[in-house]
Amino acid sequence: MQPGWAGGYGAETPYVPNFSTSQSPAHLALACAVAGVHWAPDREALTVIDLGCGRGASILALAAANPGWQAIGLDYSPAHVAEAREVAAEARLANARFIEADLAGMDEAAAAALLPEADVITLHGVWTWVSDPVRAGILAVLRSRLKPGGLVMVGYNALPGWSGDLALGKLIQNLAGALHGPADARAAMAFAAAQALHAAGAPALRNSMVLQDFAEGGNNASFGWARYLAHEFLPSAWRPAFPTDVAAAMAGAKLEFVGQAKLWRQFPELWLTPQQREALAALPPGTDRELAQDVFGARQPLREDIFIRGRRPAAPEALGDCCLALERLLPGGAVQIDTGIGKATLPKAVAGPLLAALAETPRRIEALAAIAGDCGLTPRELAVFLVSGHAAVPVWREAAGAAALARARRFNTVVMQRWAGEVQEAGFAIGLAVPRLGGPLPLTAGEAAVAMLLADSGDATPDPGAIARALLAGGLPLEPGKAATLVRDVLNTSLAGWRAMGLV
Ligand SMILES: C[S@@+](CC[C@H](N)C(=O)[O-])C[C@H]1O[C@@H](n2cnc3c(N)ncnc32)[C@H](O)[C@@H]1O
Repeated sequence: MQPGWAGGYGAETPYVPNFSTSQSPAHLALACAVAGVHWAPDREALTVIDLGCGRGASILALAAANPGWQAIGLDYSPAHVAEAREVAAEARLANARFIEADLAGMDEAAAAALLPEADVITLHGVWTWVSDPVRAGILAVLRSRLKPGGLVMVGYNALPGWSGDLALGKLIQNLAGALHGPADARAAMAFAAAQALHAAGAPALRNSMVLQDFAEGGNNASFGWARYLAHEFLPSAWRPAFPTDVAAAMAGAKLEFVGQAKLWRQFPELWLTPQQREALAALPPGTDRELAQDVFGARQPLREDIFIRGRRPAAPEALGDCCLALERLLPGGAVQIDTGIGKATLPKAVAGPLLAALAETPRRIEALAAIAGDCGLTPRELAVFLVSGHAAVPVWREAAGAAALARARRFNTVVMQRWAGEVQEAGFAIGLAVPRLGGPLPLTAGEAAVAMLLADSGDATPDPGAIARALLAGGLPLEPGKAATLVRDVLNTSLAGWRAMGLV
């Protein structure tokens, strides 16, 4: 049953313990530098708030990686807040706080009574699922609680990217409303009914990304998938938004657009044809570029837009000073970005020396550009290729002491015990806290389990067979052959980076 306090949001089943790397201030700092916008907070004393924090995965990982920060999650679901508090207590994270509060109708005074001033406020998966009074409450929090110079990251269902799924969303909402039982089961049944309409040749469903992904096996029929469907489509206020309208709403809290957290989206040359760019260039001045260019982005379902309260130009050295760590060595050696339309490639000849250098130690972008030499790409472009191509991740601090590493390890053990099975079944990533990154590293549950075993063993030359056996004994649902392959892949591609960033 939909609880009375939920105000039309499907709150009866807990959300997946999800996190987004775009909520990590380290990533936001790099995105600002790439966009040429100044953002230079006190790195060891940040206050970060997540509105609609779900089960707290993002805030918990930020608190675990940054002992000097205050990390606060706010959500109106008592089940979400209770679980997040339990994890914080179990991992002994005194700097993580979770508040149960309804954003609907919250005014500036109420926000000030509940929350401190913040350097970063994030709302991921909230804005396009909630009613107007909740949106008004969010804006009141942003007006009242964001410091001048502070950042906001809004992750939302974007139009026109979702236009092919509007009919599917409405159908699922309507069909599920006529059924009985738990929300996830109703959502799954409604989805199956919509699939039958699609199979019978419904033109309004022909361009549905969700149906296409499902048909291609990109998602599975697990409880995580059903729960995702319930949270995606059952909230009665679900309505994807155009970037222009989100920016206009944010302007009401004195916020100016910085750029997209998906860094490659800041480079139209990577994903638009010359003809498309020419057509965009011919538009009248004052046209919203974000809106206009998204008509070419066939698959831009979720935008993660960064806003700042007081936009100033970045110092010339800001980008070069950002530091990157190796995320993984890529098979074949080239770095590729999947733009949803095609693949942008940083060739092996350029990528190889950069990844080899990062395998030794994290490096500043200025140093990486020097290694790349005269390759025809700017430092900005190199950074975007490495990060959006999942070869590198931004680094937040130069070093992390033993106490900070032990604290993060304790948290990682707790989240693996609690959430690894669930995120594996749902096909989501798990975020292990890494103090040098100032936040979580996204990993599959299998990769994360290998990382924990490697961290525990501390072996200079790990034995792949022993790790695969320990993995299976640890209860991760994997076939023996797959465990051995996973361990081999991880040792070949990820171990060097994990060591350099201090995860193992
Ligand atoms: C789709 S989930 C996103 C959770 C998390 N931010 C993430 O990205 O995984 C949306 C969250 O917003 C919360 N929420 C919805 N309406 C709310 C309201 N009026 N006040 C506070 N939280 C709300 C829900 O309880 C839920 O946890």
